Amino acid sequence: MLFRRKLWVALMITAILFLASQSIRRRLFLPLSLAMHFRWVTPTSRETVVEPTAPPADPTPDPPRTPPPPSTTQPEAEEKPVENSQYDLRSCSCTESCISDLGGSDWFSRRYDPKQQPVLQDPNNNNNNFDPEALRWWLSLQRSGNDHTLKEVMLDMFKVISPPTVDFRPPSSRCRSCAVVGNSGNLLGSENGNLINSHDYVIRMNKAVTRGFEKDVGNRTTHHFLYPESAVDVDRGVSLVLLPFKLRDLEWLTSALSTGQVKMTYMRVKDRVQADKDKVLVVNPVFFKYVQDRWTEGHGRYPSTGMLAIIFALHTCDQVSVFGYGGDQQGNWHHYWEENRYAGAFRKTGVHSAEFETQIIHQLAKEGKISLHLGRNH
Ligand SMILES: *[C@@H]1O[C@H](CO)[C@@H](O)[C@H](O)[C@H]1NC(C)=O
Repeated sequence: MLFRRKLWVALMITAILFLASQSIRRRLFLPLSLAMHFRWVTPTSRETVVEPTAPPADPTPDPPRTPPPPSTTQPEAEEKPVENSQYDLRSCSCTESCISDLGGSDWFSRRYDPKQQPVLQDPNNNNNNFDPEALRWWLSLQRSGNDHTLKEVMLDMFKVISPPTVDFRPPSSRCRSCAVVGNSGNLLGSENGNLINSHDYVIRMNKAVTRGFEKDVGNRTTHHFLYPESAVDVDRGVSLVLLPFKLRDLEWLTSALSTGQVKMTYMRVKDRVQADKDKVLVVNPVFFKYVQDRWTEGHGRYPSTGMLAIIFALHTCDQVSVFGYGGDQQGNWHHYWEENRYAGAFRKTGVHSAEFETQIIHQLAKEGKISLHLGRNH
């Protein structure tokens, strides 16, 4: 009896010593694997079984959400699944890439904000998402009124023009191609007319003419960008797109499509303009600030018509071709319909930074976001 008790105590002590030594060994030499194994086999909770499937220190990398920058060379086999998954999430149905598919270009993704609403909406629907700081900046551009008067002016304007009924963003089921046609003399002799006409949208600006230049500039127009001081009549079926640089420009539009009472801004302007009132669009003042901050990065006081038209196209089209920007082959900046090779005011204004804007346009082409047509000898 006594012997059995002693044996029992001895066994207990041995067992305790053994377990203690094991536990010390475990801690000193095999910390991770044993600990994990121990947790795996405990039946207490299901999470512990699930846990190792998402280990924080897994040496295999996560599948990249965005493809690697174009400079790194990666084997095709690794890139393919990324491209396939991107294809499924395409924002348009173009066979080639869509502009708003981010990820291909870091440079582009840093600048492009897909949430921007480029077209001004009826303030009654309250969906312009005006950023107060951007509005203040826009109102100070040419020192016009305050945001209270802005609302009144907009309400008056939407009594004359129709509010844009559709979301101006292209639906994902289509591939909308756009030609943005500047007025540079480098279009002369380019024979780009048919190519320009072949786009879904043909965007022209300011005093653009087509008559007599069809072979080089085409004869279709779907959107005509202008502001009061550059206004022309537009044909039936064409969208007049107002670029408002100041409050007065919104008042001018209302007047020019109705009573004709506004005849002056800072200069004498066209008091009436021919346009389909239900096709008129007005660029959102907040969009100016976006272009100024993200694209021209504060170069110049505000972006030019040409720059605004290109960025507008990036937000409303799936593919963009750009024609008639920059100087001609001799480096002269003039319009294709003008005889005077030194007439172009664009470079001399000092209000816009022609050089920086040109850099952006070339970079957009480099990143594959636009196709740039620079005329005959390029
Ligand atoms: C453009 O020119 C073509 C060929 O001359 C003509 O058939 C077409 O009607 C013209 N379109 C416009 C909008 O002027």
